Amino acid sequence: MKILVTGGAGFIGSNFIHHILKTYPEDEVINLDALTYAGNLENLAAWKDDARYRFVKGSITDAAIVDPLVAECDIVVHFAAESHVDRSIMDPGIFLETNVRGTHVLLEAARKYSKRFHHVSTDEVFGSLGPDDAAFNEETPYDPRSPYSASKAASDHLVRAYFHTYGLPITISNCSNNYGPYHFPEKLIPLAITNLIEGKSVPVYGDGAQVRDWLHVSDHCRAIDVIIRKGKIGETYCVGGNGERENIWIVRQLLTALGKDESSIEYVKDRAGHDRRYAINFSKIERELGWRPIVTLEEGLRDTVKWFQENEAWWKNVKSGEYREYYEQQYGS
Ligand code: NAD
Ligand code: TYD
Repeated sequence: MKILVTGGAGFIGSNFIHHILKTYPEDEVINLDALTYAGNLENLAAWKDDARYRFVKGSITDAAIVDPLVAECDIVVHFAAESHVDRSIMDPGIFLETNVRGTHVLLEAARKYSKRFHHVSTDEVFGSLGPDDAAFNEETPYDPRSPYSASKAASDHLVRAYFHTYGLPITISNCSNNYGPYHFPEKLIPLAITNLIEGKSVPVYGDGAQVRDWLHVSDHCRAIDVIIRKGKIGETYCVGGNGERENIWIVRQLLTALGKDESSIEYVKDRAGHDRRYAINFSKIERELGWRPIVTLEEGLRDTVKWFQENEAWWKNVKSGEYREYYEQQYGS
């Protein structure tokens, strides 16, 4: 199978490319990535001279680049996006451009060449849960509340519209918060780990009692793999990690793992419109495709801390440059 991966230089996309090239010796991957602040080719240095892997620098919004790549592949697995909620609050425009218009350009190419299309989306499209609400599932109505989740919801609708209107062979996955190697250190877990290693504090928004469901990125990659090979065309699959925890629980685990105490926590102003709780019911993909998460949160966090300790050059590089400006704008120097 020849796979066009969009956004393959980012966190999940690069983990997915490692997974495919390691697991399927017959498969080939083309990675189309614009290399925004979040894209990093160092994530894929191991494959750069491998005949089964090719990198193309370009934007999914550029039909002239997208069209011939889609034409030569069997399937598009679409990760490319602006992915950070806080950035979407600061500047929503690029989220619409990449996540909505970019997805449209890809869908048009897939329609033109009748290609299979898998869209990687988020549980954030379903909105925010109260403490006793049932977890999101494939039937949950959409209720996005941040510019990021609104742009992902719009792209999900567009992908489904191409199935119903043109019969495009699509699948969609909506997953919970990923964590693991190559996670960009603007998100909670890698930001906390790298700040603690650097002797800085961890900014905790509001009371820290917001709940996320944490999914190890390797489990997510296995889920996408099974969906693109065995998933039913036109269907959506919710992918969760069995890892619902309050943010403060996560931060405390990381403090313990890195030998720090509560004085390293800095409670800061809450995020605007902060969603209180996400949770995923993944029984459909478990029942129909035999997938379930296998990495426990405790084990996954231990491994992730170790990965960041062993890959200091990677994140020190990422934390300099363009990202520095964003960080200073958010938290001061
Ligand atoms: P990321 O921000 O780490 O990576 C995004 C990648 O897309 C980067 O390599 C970037 O260069 C690339 N990109 C951005 N704009 C582009 C464009 N116009 N053309 C080509 N490439 C472009 O994101 P991630 O965390 O790896 O997320 C990947 C996908 O998974 C996204 O669609 C996101 O919405 C979804 N998702 C992420 C999570 C999570 O916890 N990280 C959870 C659910 C869903
Ligand atoms: P994040 O990693 O940005 O993912 P998302 O907003 O997509 O869920 O944030 C995870 C949770 O952690 C979210 O409730 C916001 C909170 N958070 C903090 O408390 N401090 C931080 O510095 C960051 C980045 C996030």
